[in-house]
Amino acid sequence: MNADQHDPTSGIPDRGRYYATTPIFYVNAAPHIGHAYTTILVDVVTRFHRLRGNDTFFLTGTDEHGEKVAKAAARAGLTPQAYTDQVAAEFRTTWDAMGIAYDEFIRTTEPRHQRIVREVLQKVYDNGDIFYGEYSGLYCVGAERFVTEKEIVDGKCPDSDEAPEYRTEANYFFRMEKYRPWLRDHIERNPDFIRPERYRNEVLAMLREPIGDLSISRPRSRVPWGIPLPWDEEHVTYVWFDALINYWSALVSRGEEQRYWPVVNHFIAKDIVKPHGVFWPTMLKAAGIPVYKHLNVHGYWLQDERKMSKSLGNVVGPLELQAKYGRDAFRYFLLRDMSFGLDASFNEPAIAERINADLANDLGNLLNRTLGMLTKYRRGVVPAFGALERPDEVLRDAFLALPDALSAHFDELHFERGLEEVMQAVRAANKYIAEQQPWALAKDPAQAGRLDTVLRTCLEALRCASVLLECVMPEKCRALRVQLGLPDASATLSDARHWDGLPALTTAGAGDPLFPRIDLAALQDELAADSGPPLEHKPEVDIDAFAALELRVALVTHVEPHPKADKLLVLTVQLGSETRTIVSGIRAHYTPEQLVGKQVVIIANLKPVRLRGVESQGMVLSAEDPDGSLAVVTVDRDAVPGAEVR
Ligand code: MSP
Repeated sequence: MNADQHDPTSGIPDRGRYYATTPIFYVNAAPHIGHAYTTILVDVVTRFHRLRGNDTFFLTGTDEHGEKVAKAAARAGLTPQAYTDQVAAEFRTTWDAMGIAYDEFIRTTEPRHQRIVREVLQKVYDNGDIFYGEYSGLYCVGAERFVTEKEIVDGKCPDSDEAPEYRTEANYFFRMEKYRPWLRDHIERNPDFIRPERYRNEVLAMLREPIGDLSISRPRSRVPWGIPLPWDEEHVTYVWFDALINYWSALVSRGEEQRYWPVVNHFIAKDIVKPHGVFWPTMLKAAGIPVYKHLNVHGYWLQDERKMSKSLGNVVGPLELQAKYGRDAFRYFLLRDMSFGLDASFNEPAIAERINADLANDLGNLLNRTLGMLTKYRRGVVPAFGALERPDEVLRDAFLALPDALSAHFDELHFERGLEEVMQAVRAANKYIAEQQPWALAKDPAQAGRLDTVLRTCLEALRCASVLLECVMPEKCRALRVQLGLPDASATLSDARHWDGLPALTTAGAGDPLFPRIDLAALQDELAADSGPPLEHKPEVDIDAFAALELRVALVTHVEPHPKADKLLVLTVQLGSETRTIVSGIRAHYTPEQLVGKQVVIIANLKPVRLRGVESQGMVLSAEDPDGSLAVVTVDRDAVPGAEVR
């Protein structure tokens, strides 16, 4: 059976195959949390398929050609090869340090990849789907592609947040438009080809209008860092045409395309939907290679409502976070706190809260209480079950339903829901302890058999939880099984399908606490200390001092430079029926055009002063950043000019 056709009724893990890929990351920057998320996600998914007994392959790697990388190398004062060697190694070491169990790491500068790119190009060329022509348009180096006028937001490319530049070039073109009807049809007929649905709809919307032909080469004279076209060495392959082929070349170079290509699942974020949803399937079709099985698209991790990226300078290092919160706990947070397909916001208190709630309180508590009681009441020896009562059966049945439930959620990309279901069962086990009161049973020798059953039930719950969470927290789950006294700490999903997995009479006992609580107050203090020196406050005043000030909203109707002072602007403002003149030192921060029409906040009862010969009848309020830049204070919806600010 195919890995993706999980049959929840069978009760037997799939014996299928599964192949998953991350994007190959640009080597113009060190790995950050965004790259780490996709890589951890694919690591979790492939570990889960292995746990189910599937023949699984996990590919990641680095995208090393193109202008963007060549520019980064020049900035670093290195040759492109020396530079890419260095950053590719950094990616590899980061993934190794994070315990990412990839099967293959591909670099686009490797000869095996270059050979296959040239083969694919030649095939498409021989089929007549590549022609020579001229093209003019807006090119974004950050995203390494031409962008359409329609895509541009505030003068910037939506993928990279950089301003594109106008270019005219003679290039080779791939007849992409020719394949548009076919691709539309394919997506219509295969609803889960691109998922979740919002991204399928996004691609279908792109395909409603002509997509044009794709420029697939760059003149070598301008971009020497790339793979020369097989039929014209004066041109190098466009970086996306080169990069996308990695998913195929990695398999072909190992002779494994028959084995894994039919089950290929790509995982990407929404920034690169167009190359993967439009360029790649049409390229595959033209090259006579079957299209991929699924394109799985996740949202962004945002910090302060912005996508985290190197160019935005708001990067959090994945290794730092792993060191601070623990590798497995950090993985759990990433999987649990993002709904696949949607954006999620990233901040350290959220990591700590998630760890404390789910891992320290729920799972950690179940483990500590169970092993504590086992040591106290049974000297650590795992007891046999007595007759099961209703609550024991209810808990057992809840756990034994989880392998199928988890598989179904993971297959549908609802990782957070799958994990939440496991945690609900863990919470039910804690509730079971509270209700069965083993400490009361322990006092009554007649209840010894009942106590055995309750303890054993908790131990089996923990054992099953450790199997179910194995793919997300491999180290912790293994350690948990060691604490339960299991002689072989490895696991398969079928281990969570029965309720008698612990050999009776083995000894279990707590070791180091597996899920320590994070001190949230100390974390808040530490983060506050990192966010700059404490503010210097002025002496307190009572409310009358504030009430003495008359603050009002004023509409700026006219602005001109002060005739005698180059730091000052002269504003004409309207408040009620009054018109006033205000001189303000904001000339370095605003042009007159930027201010006209704004509703600013002024102090209206300040004694008038003459500033270099012009009388100022009030003061405009503004906020000053530590670097001295100013932002005038405005109201967040239209107010009546003259409205009092209280
Ligand atoms: N080299 C191309 C991909 C070629 S694949 C044939 C590229 N590289 S990239 O380094 O820019 O990586 C983009 C990918 O990094 C995203 O699709 C996503 O997997 C990951 N992420 C980068 N920033 C991210 C967030 N802020 N949030 C989530 N994922 C992010 O594009």
